[in-house]
Amino acid sequence: MSLIKFPELKNDLILRVLRGEKTERAPVWCMRQAGRYLPEFRAIRVENEFFKVCRNPELAAEVTIQPIRRYSGLLDASIIFCDILVIPQAMGMEVLMVPGKGPHFPAPLVVPEDMKKLVDREDNYSVHEELDYVYKAITLTRTRLDGEVPLFGFIGAPWTLMAYMIEGGGSKTFSKAKTWLWKYPEAAHELLDRITKVSVEFLKGQAAAGAQMLQVFDSWAGELAPADYFEFEMPYLLRIAEEVRKAYPDIPIVVFPKGVHPETVEYIVLNSEYAAVSLDWTLNPESLVKDLKARAEAIGKPIIFQGNLDPTVLFASKETIRTKTKEMCNKFTGCGHVCNLGHGMMPDHSPEHLGWFLEAVHEFSSKHQ
Ligand code: CP3
Repeated sequence: MSLIKFPELKNDLILRVLRGEKTERAPVWCMRQAGRYLPEFRAIRVENEFFKVCRNPELAAEVTIQPIRRYSGLLDASIIFCDILVIPQAMGMEVLMVPGKGPHFPAPLVVPEDMKKLVDREDNYSVHEELDYVYKAITLTRTRLDGEVPLFGFIGAPWTLMAYMIEGGGSKTFSKAKTWLWKYPEAAHELLDRITKVSVEFLKGQAAAGAQMLQVFDSWAGELAPADYFEFEMPYLLRIAEEVRKAYPDIPIVVFPKGVHPETVEYIVLNSEYAAVSLDWTLNPESLVKDLKARAEAIGKPIIFQGNLDPTVLFASKETIRTKTKEMCNKFTGCGHVCNLGHGMMPDHSPEHLGWFLEAVHEFSSKHQ
């Protein structure tokens, strides 16, 4: 629990689901709910460079709250406006956000010796000092939210961050980052370990600053074969949840391993401290629940999933959005469900269409929870 005094929470629906309780309906929020599909966000970005918005608590609070304000009463969670790449920045790497192109690292890691350029943030003080602007944004945002909905803090998972730090940006094949796994496995583990240490401190700092839930985004999880995921990501993912939960046992953590095999999801449900796994739209919650039920019950673990409407469904008509949302909600019968998309909002999504999705969740999820 954070020691700061915040306004009383008026909507704790998502927190109850993440604790394993039965609720009147599924809570709903969307990954990337603050972003370029909103004209009010674009208006702020015209004047302010991307990382400036992240670093300025007033601006970060404003854009975090924009979707909560617009969809008044329809969203059940907020997520702090920031980026997963603030950790590579805090470790001494330069990251630019190139309009229309995405993140760009002018000097990515090429060979293991390049890790010497990274600043060690292993002592608590420097992690917290370097990322203090995120904590300030979280504290201000939670105050300004006035208890409307709880606030997520987040990080990128170690493998996903390692991939960006070596590729220098997005990639189609991830061949540079994956080459490290085969050619320099020891250095890869050292890098993953260093990222993990910073991540644990950063998540604890976000919880202390007022984040009521945390999410780990593993956007490039699906690039690894299951066995390689178990070697190069799973131990670090498990460690992050374990260490953060030791310090903050009341703060639920959600993990989003995008693109992974169903067996990997099942392993996380049964063996980790994550409260919920966020599913992309390629996974079928119904068959996951069927496979998991007996094993989860035997060890007293609730099955809680987040997701998983294909984000492109939001380009469809109101009728199709309603039908697909209803079908999706029904597939989460038999488990706790935090309703979300299977990945983030896209810049060309329409705010009106998102509203239809949120209304449909309120209408249909209540019938089976
Ligand atoms: O509303 C929210 O979800 C909170 C803010 C948030 C952002 N990025 C803001 C952002 C969150 C949770 C993220 C996470 C993030 N960042 C991920 C994991 C989720 C995912 O999408 O898989 C990843 C991979 C990144 C890295 C990143 N940041 C990329 C690849 C890009 C460019 C692609 C794009 O969408 O333009 C960004 C930029 C970024 N992060 C934007 C926003 C709103 C758009 C940049 C802009 O405003 O110009």
